Amino acid sequence: ALMGAVCMALDIASLVDTGTGRQSRLIYANEEIYRQELERIFGRCWLFLVHTSQIPKPGDYFRTFMGEDDVIVIRQKDGSIKAFLNSCTHRGNRVCRADRGNARAFTCNYHGWSFAPDGALAGVPLENEAYFGELDRSKFGLVPVTKVSEYKGLVFGCWDANSPSLEDYLGDAKFFLDVWLDAMPGGSALLGETQKMVLGTNWKLPVENVCGDGYHLGWAHAGAMSAVQSMDLTGLSVGNSGVDLDGGLSVAGMNGHMVLSALDGVSGYAFYPDPKPILEYLEANRQTVIDRLGEVRGKQVWGAQVNITIFPNLQLLPGLNWFRVYHPKGPGQIEQWTWAMAENDMPEAVKTQILENQCLTFGLAGLFDNDDGDNLAACTEQSRGWRTAQMDVYTNMALGRSGKREGFPGDIAAGLVSEHNQRYFYRRWQEHMMAENWAEVPTYNINSLTAQEAEHA
Ligand code: FES
Ligand code: FE
Repeated sequence: ALMGAVCMALDIASLVDTGTGRQSRLIYANEEIYRQELERIFGRCWLFLVHTSQIPKPGDYFRTFMGEDDVIVIRQKDGSIKAFLNSCTHRGNRVCRADRGNARAFTCNYHGWSFAPDGALAGVPLENEAYFGELDRSKFGLVPVTKVSEYKGLVFGCWDANSPSLEDYLGDAKFFLDVWLDAMPGGSALLGETQKMVLGTNWKLPVENVCGDGYHLGWAHAGAMSAVQSMDLTGLSVGNSGVDLDGGLSVAGMNGHMVLSALDGVSGYAFYPDPKPILEYLEANRQTVIDRLGEVRGKQVWGAQVNITIFPNLQLLPGLNWFRVYHPKGPGQIEQWTWAMAENDMPEAVKTQILENQCLTFGLAGLFDNDDGDNLAACTEQSRGWRTAQMDVYTNMALGRSGKREGFPGDIAAGLVSEHNQRYFYRRWQEHMMAENWAEVPTYNINSLTAQEAEHA
């Protein structure tokens, strides 16, 4: 009953005010709020698990996390993909210690139980002698992730049987996702190994930084910007009138997913020491993409930098070509996993350039990541004090200055400098945290995709 009383004291409605752009600092530091996030956000939403290109063959597996739950994702003999908790059903040990590989079975280090790729308990040492043949193996398979589904190469898992389908969950964000996943006939892939970094930040801060914070670009990254060759700052239009919807966009209102884009070819390719190969690739294939995705996306979006956030913890940036998932490790820590991303139709030389440039900018020692890491860690740390925990933080820039743009889904604010997307992010966070179940979570795809689909059907 006491625990109940303490929980009641966490009045989620009062912690975030999206109408005025205010968040209590408790949401970055409080342990109980964090436990509720694991249940109501990470235990309920579709979470990115793996790209199909990372586990091409039967037996190929990849280890990841859903919230703090360690999960093995493995390609089955029939080509389908299953996912299981990486926890032995005997006494809980992990059954897989490697990050990725190919396995015919997972054998536990503790007492030697072994599990088949489909999760079934396949072997028990001394089964007859010690268990007298009375162990019902069928009750001790690895615990499967409730739902596993793929969208054009991206594999997601979900613990909640009552969630919407993955397609419905992604909703209008598919309009932007397809600009990487489906622009070219060869589809997409992640490049290289997983680049893992531990950061002392609450998981929400890097998500809302990338989902909407164009404000910090010219200040926090000023040094990095001037260090990289030929960075064209004119593309980072401020657009702070909030009414001119040409140029950069902050797109939200898509079921908690968000997009920040400079549009019209402004991209991280400007960072490249030699941008010629990628520019030639874009030029040579522009018409193909227009034919596949229509004029709006083919001309304005493909080849531009597009920061896509899939709620709660996945971010991918076509045009800057990094792909990232944030795994929470307590209220004040994350593991940030990054890959470079490419289209399969790109020439090898372009893929190499993409991987190198991703490491230079947003890799473990990346110019930009190092600027951000310290800021986000300090914002987290400064919310842990007795007095600072009573304070608020603000995302109140350009309130109410948003609208629609022809050809695009979502509720859109102009330019890259806005806190429009952050307000939608915290709104979605609050909606999930307050809802007892999926039925209480509102759906809002501001513009339906149907009009877009009709345009180039
Ligand atoms: Fe895995 Fe005992 S804990 S076999
Ligand atoms: Fe940054």
